[in-house]
Amino acid sequence: MATVLKSHRASRRRKHSAHPLQRLLEYGHQYRKQIWLATTYSTLNKFFDLAPPGLIGVAVDVVVKQQDSIIAQLGVRDVFQQFLIISFLTVVIWILESVFEYAYARLWRNLAQNIQHDLRLDAYKHLQELELAYFEERSTGGLMSILSDDINQLERFLDGGANDIIQVSATVLIIGAAFFILAPSVAWMALSPMPFILWGSFAYQRLLAPRYAEVREKVGFLNSRLSNNISGITTIKSFTSEAYEASRLELDSDAYRRSNSKAITLSAAFVPLIRMLILVGFTALLLYGGMAAVSGAMSVGTYSVLVFLIQRLLWPLTRLGETFDQYQRAMASTNRVMNLLDTPIAIHTGDVALPVDEVRGEVQFNNVYFAYKDRFPVIKNLSLDIPAGKTIAIVGSTGSGKSTLVKLLLRLYEVQAGSITLDGIDLQSLNLQDLRRCIGLVSQDVFLFHGTVAENIAYGSFETREQEIITAAKIAEAHEFIIELPEGYETIVGERGQKLSGGQRQRIAIARAVLKNPPILILDEATSAVDNETEAAIQRSLERITVDRTTIAIAHRLSTIRNADCIYVMEHGKLVESGTHEQLLEKDGIYSGLWRVQSGLR
Ligand SMILES: Nc1ncnc2c1ncn2[C@@H]1O[C@H](COP(=O)(O)OP(=O)(O)OP(=O)(O)O)[C@@H](O)[C@H]1O
Ligand SMILES: [Mg+2]
Repeated sequence: MATVLKSHRASRRRKHSAHPLQRLLEYGHQYRKQIWLATTYSTLNKFFDLAPPGLIGVAVDVVVKQQDSIIAQLGVRDVFQQFLIISFLTVVIWILESVFEYAYARLWRNLAQNIQHDLRLDAYKHLQELELAYFEERSTGGLMSILSDDINQLERFLDGGANDIIQVSATVLIIGAAFFILAPSVAWMALSPMPFILWGSFAYQRLLAPRYAEVREKVGFLNSRLSNNISGITTIKSFTSEAYEASRLELDSDAYRRSNSKAITLSAAFVPLIRMLILVGFTALLLYGGMAAVSGAMSVGTYSVLVFLIQRLLWPLTRLGETFDQYQRAMASTNRVMNLLDTPIAIHTGDVALPVDEVRGEVQFNNVYFAYKDRFPVIKNLSLDIPAGKTIAIVGSTGSGKSTLVKLLLRLYEVQAGSITLDGIDLQSLNLQDLRRCIGLVSQDVFLFHGTVAENIAYGSFETREQEIITAAKIAEAHEFIIELPEGYETIVGERGQKLSGGQRQRIAIARAVLKNPPILILDEATSAVDNETEAAIQRSLERITVDRTTIAIAHRLSTIRNADCIYVMEHGKLVESGTHEQLLEKDGIYSGLWRVQSGLR
């Protein structure tokens, strides 16, 4: 196990040190063919885009030399026919340029769409597999900014930036080659700034990269503050802390602005600096080339081609700054997305299958020990035997570890010592989905999804008929209030179910668990938010459905669990008392003390 972990970590470190572009290409290897094709189209488009200046040279050549021009040497001596040929070539070249422009634009932009789509889905699917502890360390807004902003950033780059980089490279190569063919004597002059430009660009990139990484990080902070505040709007209003929150947001927004501004200071200087370098090459060519053309060492046609071409070289190079900017931002984003994708999954499924209809429902905790990350132990050497089909109850002071036990049973966290078994099979070797499918949990903090009441009840049991939903709602004592809602079962509950009362949300959660019809039912403070009368009614219907079903009920109100087959009292991560209601009262320990307080005897 330890060696597996170690090698996993090593491979992660290796991956992280890889260049983000390499990581991206590795990820998109299924699109390799399309990327090559798109690159070819971009290059061909650039080639035809650069051809017209060449034709201008040929035209000038015809004007100056007429019967002795290059075309004339190929056999066409008539000047008009020579111009016809040039015109024809121009038309063909422009058409080809347009065709390839359409081809590359379509391909790159669709590639951008496909890759961002795949990446978003993969990142989301991976995120769902990660353990709860991962989410506790991070904020919703931060993760949102990876799944939306960062992936969009990448999309933007692939949409245009990738093509820009390829076309600039193609331009340099094509024009460089043309210079050396046409006028080797001045070519070195015109191209002399190139190495400096390239070196400068790379040096610039290295300087910019950390600044953009910082920008992305600040966006994450900003988003997490925003999402946190929007979900906490009721608290903000009730504590009239609007000004305080606005100033906290201002701090985050300002940090984002400042980190961007640091990047801008550097990136804005790029184009002017590059232009200065190009200026050297351009003036040198103008001067020496001009003198050579006058002295006859170079033809007028060649001279004009060179002057046009160097402009074509200059123009895109100044755009390099913008492109590199986009590239650098995209790489910072790629790193964040790839880091998410490379986060190892801590809780793996076992391979023993246990179909729901074969589960007996016998649960055993054997000397379980558990501590949350960097915390003191919460569960200490705990053993608990729950026979199949029985109802047990756990009571105990707040923070004693009751809900933690439930999370361990669902394998949301891994026990650190000891074991938990279901029907005698260790949870770690059990198929994770099978395990969770056979447990119905009504948790302490109910979460409803944005959607209708019916959708929320049927959540997880996606193929249910309306009648079954209504039956479940009736068992949970929810039917009455649901039909009184404006649209009954079709009423939208709002995000997190905020359009319902706490007790209504709980009853929908109970209905959801009832509909799931699991062999094991866990009720963690399931009725804490409903009135006594409703609670009694729910209790009566639950008593019917918990027959022959393993049930774990956690409650503070002891009246709700007094009929359990066995009641356990939990203190500081240990079970300190157990027995039936009557036995525990006789024992005169913690339970009987609690009971006396709650029934008003003391
Ligand atoms: N995700 C977490 N990370 C770190 N510590 C946690 C986490 N969840 C719970 N704890 C701590 O573990 C202890 C047990 O929590 P648990 O939720 O199991 O208590 P509980 O018995 O269910 O309490 P209550 O009756 O209030 O629901 C508490 O001290 C709590 O602060
Ligand atoms: Mg709890």
